[in-house]
Amino acid sequence: MTDKTQQFLSGKTVIAVIVIVVALAAIFIAAPFFTTGSTHQTLPTVSATLAPTEGQVTLPAPDHTTGGTLDYALEHRRSSRAYLNESISIGNLSLILWSAQGITDTASGKRTAPSAMHTYPLTLYVAVSNVTGVSPGVYTYVPETNSLSRHLDAAGKDRVLSAIGQQQVRSAPVTIIVSGNTTVFKERMSSSDDVLRNLCLEAGHVVQNILLMETSRGMAGVPFTGFNATAVDGHLGLSGNNHVVYAVTAAYPADQ
Ligand SMILES: Cc1cc2nc3c(=O)[nH]c(=O)nc-3n(C[C@H](O)[C@H](O)[C@H](O)COP(=O)(O)O)c2cc1C
Repeated sequence: MTDKTQQFLSGKTVIAVIVIVVALAAIFIAAPFFTTGSTHQTLPTVSATLAPTEGQVTLPAPDHTTGGTLDYALEHRRSSRAYLNESISIGNLSLILWSAQGITDTASGKRTAPSAMHTYPLTLYVAVSNVTGVSPGVYTYVPETNSLSRHLDAAGKDRVLSAIGQQQVRSAPVTIIVSGNTTVFKERMSSSDDVLRNLCLEAGHVVQNILLMETSRGMAGVPFTGFNATAVDGHLGLSGNNHVVYAVTAAYPADQ
């Protein structure tokens, strides 16, 4: 090989290396922009998030033999914001979540609460502070298996509750945050007002079921919307078409 050929080849090698480095840098920089359409994009405010598949908690089958009547629950339901320092049993948590989104017909998948076009766009984020047999953290409720799927650890749960800010969540053993996914409604409804209206109505059904179940088992809570939903979305890692809509506590009341 002549000197000229060697010089030419080493020049080509340098150019090839530069091209590869530039291409890799471009891919690295552009990658995040291709993921912004995802409905489960994790926001930077979330830390210590566990993968949703880790930490499954199977709930006991709901015990329907222990409650008061529906009439009793309707008559005695009252919002409560001050609570006894008493844990909630895993059995009572199971009942509360079943009342919210439990599957009552396995063939159709229909649930305790009604849903527009039976699409079930809601997810329950269950912030556990004091439940026997369940580690503190935030879980999602999985109606199909009547189980909890761990979503955030105890520190993540504390951040979500401080973002909510209302005093009742500080002492409540459980705070349930209802989020809605707008994807299906956006496909099937002509206006964004209709999407929002249907989502909020569904959340209302769910939260009323929870409050009545709590009352029937001697518990109480308060339904609430007075918090910065965008901040709570951020701490839960919600984005895209997923948004927090409503929240409710579960506890033994000290103010009734
Ligand atoms: C949509 C909605 C939003 C609410 N938001 C809050 C809230 O942010 N904070 C609060 O302490 N209570 C909140 N409440 C509870 C009401 O203050 C309570 O339901 C009302 O005072 C009636 O009392 P009762 O629930 O005991 O019958 C809310 C209730 C509803 C239906």
